[in-house]
Amino acid sequence: MTRVVIVTGAGSGIGQATALRFATQQDAVVITDINESAARATLAQTADPSAHMVHICDVSNEHSVQMMVAAVLDRYGRVDVLVNNAGILLSKPLHLTSWVEWQRVLNTNLGSIFLCSAAVLPTMLAQHAGAIINLASPHSFATTSNIAAYAASKGGVVSLTRQMAMDYGRLGIRTNCVVPGAIDTAMLRSDIAHGDGVEASLAGWARVQPIGRVGQPDDIAQVICWLASDAAGFVLGAAIHADGGMLAQLTPPTE
Ligand code: NAI
Repeated sequence: MTRVVIVTGAGSGIGQATALRFATQQDAVVITDINESAARATLAQTADPSAHMVHICDVSNEHSVQMMVAAVLDRYGRVDVLVNNAGILLSKPLHLTSWVEWQRVLNTNLGSIFLCSAAVLPTMLAQHAGAIINLASPHSFATTSNIAAYAASKGGVVSLTRQMAMDYGRLGIRTNCVVPGAIDTAMLRSDIAHGDGVEASLAGWARVQPIGRVGQPDDIAQVICWLASDAAGFVLGAAIHADGGMLAQLTPPTE
């Protein structure tokens, strides 16, 4: 059976790699993003674009999410996998974060998981099957300076993942989250664009991750695809660290 897989934020980085990897597995992929040209560029990279669909959706907007899921059900009639990937980063301490910025980050990174999950759960519950994979962060567990709203949102992702696992595991729906380390995407590059420059900063991230390199989007896409597969059928409520050992260390490795 062809699975129907929704990937939010599929126009770039981890979401794009994830959409493309599901597409190679013969799944029907719903490529959703707020950025239409980015989403269409992802679709164009699939081997058979006619098997998949693009839907422009702001995951922080309830109506937009409901329209997206309605369009998916209209075309495919089911939803097997939801990857809550879309996210934004804001590097600011709390006292310099405006209420509007706080709400934008919390609504995009955490509120989106509520909205997208609430929209697909009736279908998954009727199917008695489904997999939901949320994107957490090392900031869910530890943090660096000046990243208040993002860290708070990602802490919430792990809590909400646990809760959804508890509430829906017995009903056939497995919810888990992935904790990526520093992954070479537009988000990471724009965050490190100031200061020492992108290449020097990427080299710095490679040094502080015990694995000795920055991650690539497909490193995370492979974990997400595994979590969505039957091979992960007993994995529920987990936060799978795919972080090159970042959270395993007390201090960076010695040379
Ligand atoms: P990215 O910036 O490369 O891609 C994010 C995508 O989400 C973009 O295509 C963007 O248009 C879309 N998006 C943003 N706001 C949206 C909205 N309101 N509605 C719909 N789409 C929206 O980011 P990246 O790095 O691929 O991150 C993906 C996820 O992984 C995020 O949740 C991020 O927090 C998480 N993550 C990333 C890490 C990294 O080092 N890159 C590390 C840990 C977690």
